[in-house]
Amino acid sequence: MASLRFQHLLLVLLPVILLLSYTVKSDNDEEETLLESINSYRASLNLTAFTENNNAECLADKMADKYKKQLCTNTTGSNTVPGTETQFPDYPQILEKCHLNINGTKDGIVMPVCVPRLDPTLVLTNFTQSQYSAYLNDTKYTGVGIGSEDDWIVMVLTTNTAGGAFTPAGSAASVPNVGLKFLLISLLGFFLVLWS
Ligand SMILES: *[C@@H]1O[C@H](CO)[C@@H](O)[C@H](O)[C@H]1NC(C)=O
Ligand SMILES: *[C@@H]1O[C@H](CO)[C@@H](O)[C@H](O)[C@H]1NC(C)=O
Ligand SMILES: *[C@@H]1O[C@H](CO)[C@@H](O)[C@H](O)[C@H]1NC(C)=O
Ligand SMILES: *[C@@H]1O[C@H](CO)[C@@H](O)[C@H](O)[C@H]1NC(C)=O
Ligand SMILES: *[C@@H]1O[C@H](CO)[C@@H](O)[C@H](O)[C@H]1NC(C)=O
Repeated sequence: MASLRFQHLLLVLLPVILLLSYTVKSDNDEEETLLESINSYRASLNLTAFTENNNAECLADKMADKYKKQLCTNTTGSNTVPGTETQFPDYPQILEKCHLNINGTKDGIVMPVCVPRLDPTLVLTNFTQSQYSAYLNDTKYTGVGIGSEDDWIVMVLTTNTAGGAFTPAGSAASVPNVGLKFLLISLLGFFLVLWS
C-alpha cells in the first residue's frame, strides 16, 4: 500500500514540477538577453522599447520548434532571400494553438534567426545588421515575443492596430490553458490521495 500512496503523491507533485519547469523554460537566458539588447538598440534610435506580448511569445516558441530541425546555412534565418521564406502549410493550426488567427496577426512580423549555440553577439547582429533592421527601426511595431529552440531564435513583432495586436481570437481563449490543465490534474491527484 505504501507504494500506491507514493504513486498518488507523485501524481500530485508531478504537475507542480512540470509547471515550475514550464515557467523557467519560458524565460530563458538567450531570450532575456536578446530582449534587453533589442530594447537598448531601440533606445539608441530614440524609439520606444518593445513591450512583451505573451501571445506573440507563444507563436515565437511554436515557430522556433518548427525551425529547429533545419541547419543554419547562408540562406536561412536573417539571410533568407525575401520571397523564399520557408512556408509552413500548418501555419493556421500553429496560430490556433496560440488562440490567434490570421486577422489579428497579419500586420505582425515573424523573424527567425539561426546561429550556432545562439552566440549572443551574432544573434543580436543577425537582427540589427540584416534586412530585419527595417522592422526594428520602425515605429509601427510596439510589442515583441521571443522563442528559441536549439540554434534557432524567433522574434515576433506586434503592432498597436487590430491587424497586429495579437489579441486572442474569441474571449474563451484567454483562459491560461496550460495552467488550467495542470490544476485539474493536481486536483484529480489530490482527490485520489483522499480516497485511498
Ligand atoms: C535621439 O535624441 C537625442 C536627444 O533628443 C538626439 O541628440 C539624438 O541625435 C537622437 N538620436 C537619433 C538616432 O535620432
Ligand atoms: C552560400 O554558400 C554556398 C555554398 O556553401 C556558396 O556557393 C554561396 O556563394 C554562398 N552565398 C552567399 C550569399 O554567401
Ligand atoms: C477574418 O476577417 C474576415 C473579414 O472580416 C472574415 O471573413 C474571416 O472569417 C476572418 N477570419 C478568421 C479566421 O477569423
Ligand atoms: C548571422 O549569424 C551567422 C551564423 O549563423 C553569422 O555567420 C553571420 O555573420 C551573422 N550575420 C550578421 C549580420 O551578424
Ligand atoms: C536601421 O537603423 C540603423 C541605425 O540607424 C541603420 O544602420 C540601418 O541601416 C537601418 N535599417 C534600415 C533597413 O534602414
